[in-house]
Amino acid sequence: MVEEHTWLRKSSWNEKDEYYTPPILVDAILPYLKEGSTIWCPFDTEHSEFVLRLSEAGFKVIYSHIWRGQDFFNYEPDEEYDYIVSNPPFTKKLDVFQRLYDLKKPFAMVMGLPILNYQQVGSFFCDKQNDGKNLQLLIVDKKVSFDGNTASFNNSYFCWNVLENDIIFHHLEHNNSRTNHTPSQMSKDAGDYI
Ligand SMILES: C[S@@+](CC[C@H](N)C(=O)[O-])C[C@H]1O[C@@H](n2cnc3c(N)ncnc32)[C@H](O)[C@@H]1O
Repeated sequence: MVEEHTWLRKSSWNEKDEYYTPPILVDAILPYLKEGSTIWCPFDTEHSEFVLRLSEAGFKVIYSHIWRGQDFFNYEPDEEYDYIVSNPPFTKKLDVFQRLYDLKKPFAMVMGLPILNYQQVGSFFCDKQNDGKNLQLLIVDKKVSFDGNTASFNNSYFCWNVLENDIIFHHLEHNNSRTNHTPSQMSKDAGDYI
């Protein structure tokens, strides 16, 4: 598997997309997902904290990743699933959101709140709202660190058809920096695949 998709792996590699979600941020979405659901994680390997934590919490998890030749823009699992949950590549964010809406499944995606500052992003979600598909936000009350250093912005969940209210604030015990830092186990995969 690792040898098969060398070209795809290298051509799709962008440093800005390789940030791996720590467990504390994955845990924030767990209470909002219906028990017994099947969840597709489309930007994830077996070591992704989405795959690990959602499985531990009793959900059935399907995962895929471009490193395995599964390009989110033209791949969908054969199995039935209820939600799409992950942290997508930042550089392809609007294409990712468009594809998510096209797939017509409830989704929850980690994304930096500063993207709401872009007019293009505002217009995109304004159009969706006019189609009755309004964006929902699960906003965590800490700026979660991915690398152990103080984070400069808030990463939260951009959702559709998942939350009971369109904005929910969610408390986290800490921001995952310094002595509280627990990294994602997916970090070790990048070296294996590239
Ligand atoms: C921000 S990282 C997050 C990884 C993981 N979901 C997590 O939260 O730890 C996004 C991942 O999506 C992968 N990716 C980029 N383009 C993709 C595509 N078209 N299809 C599937 N995965 C892709 C990147 O290589 C990267 O590993």
